[in-house]
Amino acid sequence: MDYNIAVIEGDGIGPEIIDSALQILTAVGEKFNVSFAFNKLSAGGNAIDSLGTPLPDSTLMACLNSDSVLLGAVGGPKWDGLPGDMRPEKALLSIRKELGLYANLRPARLLPELKDACPLRKEIADEGFDIMIVRELTGGMYFGERGRREGPDGQEAFDTECYSEAEIERIGIIAFELAEKRTGRLISIDKANVLESSRLWREVMHRLALRYPHVEISDMLVDNAAMQLIRNPNQFDVIVTSNMFGDILSDEASQITGSIGLLPSASLGATKRGMYEPIHGSAPDIAGRDMANPIATILSAAMMLRLSFELEEAASLIETAVSRVLAKGLRTADIAEPGTPDTEVLSCSQMTMAVLKEIEV
Ligand code: IPM
Ligand code: MG
Repeated sequence: MDYNIAVIEGDGIGPEIIDSALQILTAVGEKFNVSFAFNKLSAGGNAIDSLGTPLPDSTLMACLNSDSVLLGAVGGPKWDGLPGDMRPEKALLSIRKELGLYANLRPARLLPELKDACPLRKEIADEGFDIMIVRELTGGMYFGERGRREGPDGQEAFDTECYSEAEIERIGIIAFELAEKRTGRLISIDKANVLESSRLWREVMHRLALRYPHVEISDMLVDNAAMQLIRNPNQFDVIVTSNMFGDILSDEASQITGSIGLLPSASLGATKRGMYEPIHGSAPDIAGRDMANPIATILSAAMMLRLSFELEEAASLIETAVSRVLAKGLRTADIAEPGTPDTEVLSCSQMTMAVLKEIEV
């Protein structure tokens, strides 16, 4: 079987972490007799510099014609002053929208090997947690009407949060189905005590609940959820929430797993074609220094194999290889606990080699 993967390295550490993931995919492909063609495409800050736009048409077309998209990270301080539509992040938002990738899955699991890197109190970390955040990805405030206008006190700016029943329902279905396959617990996070869009969100989730008698759904307000995540993360299994709340809570959840450098993500829509990317950003401060943690991108590639190509065994092989490497005490700088015996700090390329070695055994 041949798969055509659109590869967007992006900016900052993007090229380094993507290079790691491509090496892993190639090795796994050889093992399982599938071949991956990598079509490298330009998007983000580098595309602004060389082609004058964050998302060249040719890149979007190639993504639409691919079997899936693998993305590193886009953005950096160099492009911070640009207007919204010309910023590197616009590339990400447009790909999500144009490919119809409305469901963003962000697993946040505390690996037993990394308990020491968890910043929470020991008794909380010892309980462990395994959360699946389902973030709505193509609606809400990030895509709503926005603008500037003159108000009575001078210039004003506004962004609007708008959700249709259909948008809420389709993301709800993804979350309920995932909850059914996991522990049957689903928490829907909103701000229904203030926002009308959240009140509709809640209505639709409750209506859906009637179709899933095996799922126990509860609601939680987003401010409380932010607090509960650090107080008792183990109470969460599947979380479903809006675009903006999911953006914020998934960064919080990633940090309590030890490092944002560990968490993969999948963005899915109505077809098998998805986009897979680490949830972290382009980390310009460490770019080009072979210091980045490639694990989130490697695990994103594993999610692609599982969810888009149905190569479950190949996906698990990658995940097991990563766990073994961590169990051996091998760390990148972001997850290394100073003073911990039996651990060794590796560069990005050394970490990649270590994972490759586990795959090839
Ligand atoms: C993410 C990022 C993006 C988002 C930015 C870069 C537009 O923070 O994937 O979480 O907000 O969705
Ligand atoms: Mg984010």
